[in-house]
Amino acid sequence: MSNVAVVGAQWGDEGKGKVVDWLSSRADVVVRFQGGHNAGHTLVIGDRTFKLSLLPSGVVRPDKLSVIGNGVVIDPWALLREIEQVRSQGVVVTPESLMIAENAALILPVHGAIDRAREQARGAGAIGTTGRGIGPAYEDKVARRAVRVCDLADPPLLRAKVEDLLAHHNVFLTAMGADALDPDAMMVELEAIAPQVLPYAGVVWERLDGLRRAGKRILFEGAQGAMLDIDHGTYPYVTSSSTLAANAAAGSGIGPGAVGFVLGITKAYTTRVGAGPFPTEQTGDVGTLLGERGREFGTVTGRKRRCGWFDAVLVRQAIKTGGITGIALTKLDVLDGFETLKLCVAYRHKGRELHHLPYAQSAQGQVEPVYEEMEGWGESTQGARSWAQLPATAIKYIRRIEELIEAPVALLSTSPDRDDTILVRDPFVD
Ligand code: GDP
Ligand code: IMO
Ligand code: MG
Repeated sequence: MSNVAVVGAQWGDEGKGKVVDWLSSRADVVVRFQGGHNAGHTLVIGDRTFKLSLLPSGVVRPDKLSVIGNGVVIDPWALLREIEQVRSQGVVVTPESLMIAENAALILPVHGAIDRAREQARGAGAIGTTGRGIGPAYEDKVARRAVRVCDLADPPLLRAKVEDLLAHHNVFLTAMGADALDPDAMMVELEAIAPQVLPYAGVVWERLDGLRRAGKRILFEGAQGAMLDIDHGTYPYVTSSSTLAANAAAGSGIGPGAVGFVLGITKAYTTRVGAGPFPTEQTGDVGTLLGERGREFGTVTGRKRRCGWFDAVLVRQAIKTGGITGIALTKLDVLDGFETLKLCVAYRHKGRELHHLPYAQSAQGQVEPVYEEMEGWGESTQGARSWAQLPATAIKYIRRIEELIEAPVALLSTSPDRDDTILVRDPFVD
C-alpha cells in the first residue's frame, strides 16, 4: 500500500479536484501542501457541484480527514467563507474533520493589495495572477516576517508582527499610489476571526505520523501544475510555490518516503490561464472549439482559458522533473468529433530540434512546435466507464501519448462527473 500524491502536469486546471474526489474513497486523509486560494478545484457529484479553493477535495466525504499543511498560504477570511459555502451545500466541517497547520503562513489583505498594485504596474507585462496575494504572502514567509496561524493565539506578538509587516509594506503601497493600511484596524479584524480559525489549528506532522503508523492511507492534493512551478515552470509566468510532488513532504511535515505513487493529472489537450509562453496554443477555430467543448473558464477568476493541442514535450518534462509515476488523462471526451488531432512531439528553435522546453524566457516564447497528426474519432467517449467502450482511434491516441511522455495512463476521465472514471492501474496498490 502506498500513499498517493496528485499533482498537475501542465499549467493547472487539469482536473485534479475530480480525480482527488474520486480517489479519496480509497484514502483516509486528504492533504493540501502548497498554494492557496488561487486554486480552484471542481467536483461534480451527480447534480451537485463543489468549487473548492483551500479545502482539500476529500472534505465532501464525511468519513475523511482533511488537512491543510504548512506549505499552504492561508487567507483566513477565504477559509471561513469556504467552510460556510460547503456547509450551505450540506457538508459537515468540524475541528474533527479539518485540521490546519499552525505553522502555515497567513495571507492578509495587504498581500492582495500588493499583488494587484504590482500587476497594474506591470501593464502589458503582467503575469495575470489571480490577485489573491499568493506571491507576496510567500515572499513574506521567506523573508521571515509572515504572520502564522499560531500567532493568532498570541495577541501581543500578533500586534508586533502586524505593525512590522504593515510598516514594511506601506512604504511600497503609498509609493504606488495605493492607500496605506492601518495596523489597528487589521488587529481588530484578526482578533475577530482568531476564535473561529484556532479550533482547526494543530500540529500536522504529529497527526500525520500517528495516522501513518496506524496504517491509514494519505492522499496529497497538489494545486496548480508543473509548468507553474517556481523552479521548473515557465518563469516568471509561474505561481510562487513548488507545485511538484516532492513538496508534499516538506509542505506537510512528512518524510519523502511517505509519498508513494505520484499521479500526474493531464488534460488530453492543453490549457493555460494568465500570461506566458504556450507553444501549442491555438488562437483560431481549434482553440475556440476546445474552449467551448471543454468549458474552459477559470474556476477562481472566471477568465477564459487559452487552449491548444496536447504538448507531449512539456508533459514528458513534467514527468521527469516531478517524478510522476503515471498519469490520469482527463477530458478525453472534449476531443470527440475532431477529424484530426495534433500532438506536439518536439520543438524547433533556431534550426535545432529540442526535446525540452528551454528555461530562457525569450527561447520559451520562440520555440515552434513540431506536430504529429493523428486520426480522431467520431464516436462519443463522454461518460465512458470502461476501456471497452472506447473507440479504437481513441485508444491509439492514448497509447501514443504514453509512448511520447514515457509514462503509463493509470486513470482516464471522460466527463466532469465523479463516476465517469476508468481505473487502469490502482495507484494505492501499485
Ligand atoms: P483542477 O484545478 O485541476 O481541479 O481543475 P478545475 O476544476 O479547475 O478544471 C477542470 C474542469 O474540467 C472542471 O470544470 C471539471 O468539472 C472538468 N472536468 C474534469 N474532468 C473532466 C473530464 O474528463 N471531461 C470533461 N468534459 N470535463 C472534466
Ligand atoms: P488549480 O489548482 C491555473 C496561475 C495564474 C497566473 C499564475 C500566477 O486550479 O490548477 P498566482 O495568483 O498564483 O500568483 O498566479 O498562476 N494560476 C493558476 N492557473 N490553475 C490554478 O490552480 C492556478 N493557480 C494559479 O493564472 O498565471
Ligand atoms: Mg482549477
